Amino acid sequence: MWYDRHRRRLPWRAEPGVAADPYKVWLSEIMLQQTTVKAVGPYFAAFLDAFPTVEALAAVPLEEVLRRWAGLGYYARARNLHACARAVVERHGGRFPDTEAGLRALPGIGPYTAAAVAAIAFDQPAAAVDGNVERVIARLVALETPLPAAKPEIRALAERLVPLARAGDFAQALMDLGATICTPRAPACVLCPWGEACAARAAGTQETFPRKVAK
Ligand code: ADE
Repeated sequence: MWYDRHRRRLPWRAEPGVAADPYKVWLSEIMLQQTTVKAVGPYFAAFLDAFPTVEALAAVPLEEVLRRWAGLGYYARARNLHACARAVVERHGGRFPDTEAGLRALPGIGPYTAAAVAAIAFDQPAAAVDGNVERVIARLVALETPLPAAKPEIRALAERLVPLARAGDFAQALMDLGATICTPRAPACVLCPWGEACAARAAGTQETFPRKVAK
């Protein structure tokens, strides 16, 4: 699989064959919601140092979490992070639920984050569709429907693509593809594992997808 050779080494990722820590996966996904991979790196490491487990995070006052969050912005994320840690400890004995539905019921976890954590931490066949993944899929099938109307269609396609085995690696492979190869401008199609299958590439129209409603 392409991911085995080309995966990005990121601080929250487990080594191949090692189970991912749901706490680290969840924390990274919350930090990555409105912040780049590059900017998140040092915050993630410092945060884990200060709060190595969900119990440790739940045990401190909110003010301490906000202090450690300073600089990342969007402080609602930090408030929800703390509320979520407390809910995991109080309602689930410190273990994250392993299904999308169970994760969705927690503070600050929306559809994307629930799918990402279910897939990456628990290998559930969940489709984590963000803007990068929308672009990859819209190009793969040369989807003419413009965003945002195309979202349900893209989600349905993504769900069909998720494999039953290695769902977590698949989710992260799609993220890496969108971030490093299937970029908005000048995608590196010769390096893409789906290069031969991609309808937009075949037509030479990669950069025109995803279609967007004219403003
Ligand atoms: N963006 C959002 N989640 C990510 C992840 N787990 N790895 C890389 N980029 C991401």
